[in-house]
Amino acid sequence: MHTVEYLLGIDIGTSGTKTVLFDTDGNTAASKTVEYPMSQPQNGWAEQRPEDWWDAVCGGIRAVLAASGAQPDAVRGIGLSGQMHSLVMLDAQNEVLRPAILWCDGRTAAECEEIHNRVGKKRYLEITANPALTGFTAGKILWVRNHEPEIYEKCRHILLAKDYIRFKLCGVYATEVSDASGMGLLDVPNRCWSDEVLEKLGIDKTLLAKVYESPEITGTITAEAAALTGLAAGTPVVGGAGDNAAAAVGTGVVEDGKAFATIGTSGVVFAHTSKLSIDPGGRVHTFCCAVPGAWHVMGVTLAAGQSLKWYRDNFCGMDMQQAEKQGVDSYILLDKAAESVPIGSNRLIYLPYLMGERTPHLDPDCRGVFFGLSGMHTRYDLLRAVMEGVTFSLRDCAGILTEMGVQPTEILACGGGGTSPLWRQMMADILDCPVATTVSREGPALGVAILAGVGAGVYASVEEGCRKLIAVNPSQPPIPQNTAQYDAYYARYQQLYPALREQFHALAAL
Ligand code: XUL
Repeated sequence: MHTVEYLLGIDIGTSGTKTVLFDTDGNTAASKTVEYPMSQPQNGWAEQRPEDWWDAVCGGIRAVLAASGAQPDAVRGIGLSGQMHSLVMLDAQNEVLRPAILWCDGRTAAECEEIHNRVGKKRYLEITANPALTGFTAGKILWVRNHEPEIYEKCRHILLAKDYIRFKLCGVYATEVSDASGMGLLDVPNRCWSDEVLEKLGIDKTLLAKVYESPEITGTITAEAAALTGLAAGTPVVGGAGDNAAAAVGTGVVEDGKAFATIGTSGVVFAHTSKLSIDPGGRVHTFCCAVPGAWHVMGVTLAAGQSLKWYRDNFCGMDMQQAEKQGVDSYILLDKAAESVPIGSNRLIYLPYLMGERTPHLDPDCRGVFFGLSGMHTRYDLLRAVMEGVTFSLRDCAGILTEMGVQPTEILACGGGGTSPLWRQMMADILDCPVATTVSREGPALGVAILAGVGAGVYASVEEGCRKLIAVNPSQPPIPQNTAQYDAYYARYQQLYPALREQFHALAAL
């Protein structure tokens, strides 16, 4: 008799943790999302409690095991994915020292300058493949050292979000190349910590985790974690990947010429590359990807799904009540409302800079804007403007990849925003490129389950796992009349940031 075997994928996201149990053919056996809050103690700051992630992971694993009826020892391997860059510090007793400082936190402008001064801007870009950016981990480490020296003094371990969960599951301090690339401490061409950068920044290497390739086994489930989660002790946990590198595997973007765009809390346009390629302006990120020996380039807009969630939560209370009464997802209702508004939102443009912006401006001080508000606008015009503004920002990302010679012929859409037919058509029209979806919508969780399958010997390689498990639906082509209309609005959108830059900085200085 053929007994079913499973792979577990866990994605520690910003809005919640998604835990998905797959069979080894990639079918979802059970899925559970547990949400938690993000706190913004000051304008431009963003923090979360690592303990909340751990509770969500334990609850999620117990829920999927119960719902699927899977025997714990039928789980062949576990893969971890998660929000990138977020700083977790542990003391000598492995207790969390302060809330995690997240990827979308912009407090470290002075520390980024300090990094460039200590290492040299050009040399830093050569080694880490990216400039020092406020979202990346290195600046956050220096910020704690500069502003909370008593905490830095006690710090013995520095981990990223999913690597903290790995520590709780396996008792090891380990990371892997894709997530480590976003710390600003990795020698990205050579896929190892940079002694030169660590020395110049005065960061002790023993604080950092051991670096693996994404499909390698990094540890096994401890007896204590087994008791808390219901997993079998000894189950292997592979390196996994940062959420974007994981989404690439989960959408089959594992060879040259392939690309995906995601609208999660952040928005990303991501392209695989087997040759290291660095934007001299540092406007897009170059990281190691989850395929051993390969890299990716990606543009990141910070508040994509977050813009829509912010708008819904603050201005669409009535629609949320209506959705609850009807028993439908409020985003589905809002999607319909936005569809009734014409392209251009009746001449209204939104800049999605709620958390500052990375691509293309690299500016932690810019902020969101509605431009062109009229007395005739309703909350649905603003809603559609938010969706269009986020998509214009994805076009900014795609434009830089094009400048670097990356010209995909089709883009896979994923993330929460990718489930909206309206948003997908907007992407196709605004990026002027066919947009497709994968049959499985599990993205990063599926990606790291495939990596777990490679580590456990179920698939021979990441590429083979993707060939076996990833199926793509027919693509949505761009509609030329729509593209022409959006082009006119995008031209205005592009002019707004340069016109406002000085004002953003003056506002931040108040
Ligand atoms: C990537 C980035 C975001 C987070 C979101 O550089 O900061 O996409 O990974 O979770």
